[in-house]
Amino acid sequence: MAGSPGTVIAILLFVVIRDTVLANNTRNVLILLADDGGFELGAYLNKICQTPNIDALVKRGVIFNNAFTSVSSCSPSRASLLTGTPSHQNGMYGLHHGVHHFNSFDNITSLPNKLSEIGVYTGIIGKKHVGPRDVYRFDFEQTEENNNVNQVGRNITYMKLLARDFLAEANKQNKPFFLLVGFHDPHRCGHSHPEWGPFCERFGSGEPGTGRIPDWTPWYYQWDEVQLPYHVQDTEAARRDVAAQYTTMSRLDQGVALILKEIEAAGHNDNTLVIYTSDNGIPFPSGRTNLYDPGLREPLIMSSPEPNARKNEASGAMVSLLDIAPTVLDWFGVKEEQEMSNDIWGEGEPRSLLPILEKEPKPSESDVVFASQTHHEVTMYYPMRAVRSRRYKLIHNLNYGMPFPIDQDLYVSPTFQDILNRTRSKQPLPWYKTLKQYYYRPQWELYDLRADPLELKNLHGKPSVEAAESSLRDRLRAWQRRSRDPWLCAPGAVLERAECRALDNGLSHFLH
Ligand SMILES: *[C@@H]1O[C@H](CO)[C@@H](O)[C@H](O)[C@H]1NC(C)=O
Ligand SMILES: *[C@@H]1O[C@H](CO)[C@@H](O)[C@H](O)[C@H]1NC(C)=O
Ligand SMILES: *[C@@H]1O[C@H](CO)[C@@H](O)[C@H](O)[C@H]1NC(C)=O
Ligand SMILES: *[C@@H]1O[C@H](CO)[C@@H](O)[C@H](O)[C@H]1NC(C)=O
Repeated sequence: MAGSPGTVIAILLFVVIRDTVLANNTRNVLILLADDGGFELGAYLNKICQTPNIDALVKRGVIFNNAFTSVSSCSPSRASLLTGTPSHQNGMYGLHHGVHHFNSFDNITSLPNKLSEIGVYTGIIGKKHVGPRDVYRFDFEQTEENNNVNQVGRNITYMKLLARDFLAEANKQNKPFFLLVGFHDPHRCGHSHPEWGPFCERFGSGEPGTGRIPDWTPWYYQWDEVQLPYHVQDTEAARRDVAAQYTTMSRLDQGVALILKEIEAAGHNDNTLVIYTSDNGIPFPSGRTNLYDPGLREPLIMSSPEPNARKNEASGAMVSLLDIAPTVLDWFGVKEEQEMSNDIWGEGEPRSLLPILEKEPKPSESDVVFASQTHHEVTMYYPMRAVRSRRYKLIHNLNYGMPFPIDQDLYVSPTFQDILNRTRSKQPLPWYKTLKQYYYRPQWELYDLRADPLELKNLHGKPSVEAAESSLRDRLRAWQRRSRDPWLCAPGAVLERAECRALDNGLSHFLH
């Protein structure tokens, strides 16, 4: 290796950072990531679904009321969370596993790789679902790649024991740690294990033939009592589906308590930043795979052990899950100029959320978050880009001519089958949309969320919102350009040497 001056400086810097972090050994991070988890949480005012352990975390921290994912799909969201870049920039355009086979680019730097370099002991327990391996390398990996996904992601006793191993090793090596616990709950499983119910709510429940998870006491709910989300039809089939989801939430919630107990037992209660969130919206119509609010909005709870950190408070700050990577780097004292690749960073976004844990920022009408969705399954090509302010949401559906695609997992669900059955047989469907409206979307959708939180009245092109719409469109384009979105010019033009060249196909890409 020819040691250029640049290399020497980089190595020196590396050694200095490594020594400081190692010397202190007092700052750790735990991320508790739910899989398709939504707002079925007492802390977010669900009155029926009981989650006392996640609620208790709020007492120790800040609950965010305006947190959004940048993409409503599993692997893309995890890749975005671990790199601080939108899916179109890190290359994870869709699901990672099986025939879908999406991966991030080889030249991307992820949080675990970066932290490992500076002497943090990194681990992942549960669902990983990102690749390639070299881009997302953890020192300790117990995931679906070397375990059964239900054991490592839903068997909370098994997960607890793995966390214990990880923490013992971090203590033995006397290193600060970064641990990502990727719960597979409350993901559906009607597509993979229908015998355990639509949400695997019977797996390990102790019912005949389901085995037992020693640390889990399942909680059951009456279907006619669930708090139905507005985007789910009010029928018995859908309500029973939601009740099953609630039971699975009880496993996730008790799992959170077990992991937090392991942190405490390892002596790290007072030096660990704890983050609870989810990858994307719930697996119901308008949720996961959609950029409507039920697909984009996420629970986010952050608890900092710092003495001056806010406790038991709510934040209204507009934040993105893209902010988590810079937050964790900030926590470990890594300065922005050392953040290496991921060249979107700068211009104030994404940004560390640590200051919000001390003081609520002033809300501004100009606060926005961005979203970028391309695939979920490989067959589900439906690119969308969106910008959301406190008041408005603008969605650009690039392939608006085709029906909105439905994933296998939602397709087989009782909720979606019920929509299909009722639509086919022309029975009443007490839903806020028709199937046709759900499938066929216009190129542009603009909603005034204050007047129309359900996103039903498309204001695109209305003179009364012209200024707001054009400002959002400009900001969306600027973000796409800055983050090198290959879809910048779609569907009306081709991107060639940083310019949009018209295709003359009758589709204006942004001018109307
Ligand atoms: C480590 O501790 C020293 C002395 O308390 C402090 O000056 C330094 O900022 C700490 N470094 C980190 C990365 O926390
Ligand atoms: C990373 O790789 C992608 C895909 O090959 C490429 O488009 C991009 O320019 C590369 N980024 C950097 C910073 O080298
Ligand atoms: C969960 O894991 C524990 C510990 O490994 C094991 O004893 C138990 O049988 C597992 N439960 C199921 C349902 O697989
Ligand atoms: C939908 O219809 C099919 C065929 O009649 C039936 O087997 C299924 O149980 C129905 N599902 C729901 C949720 O109504």
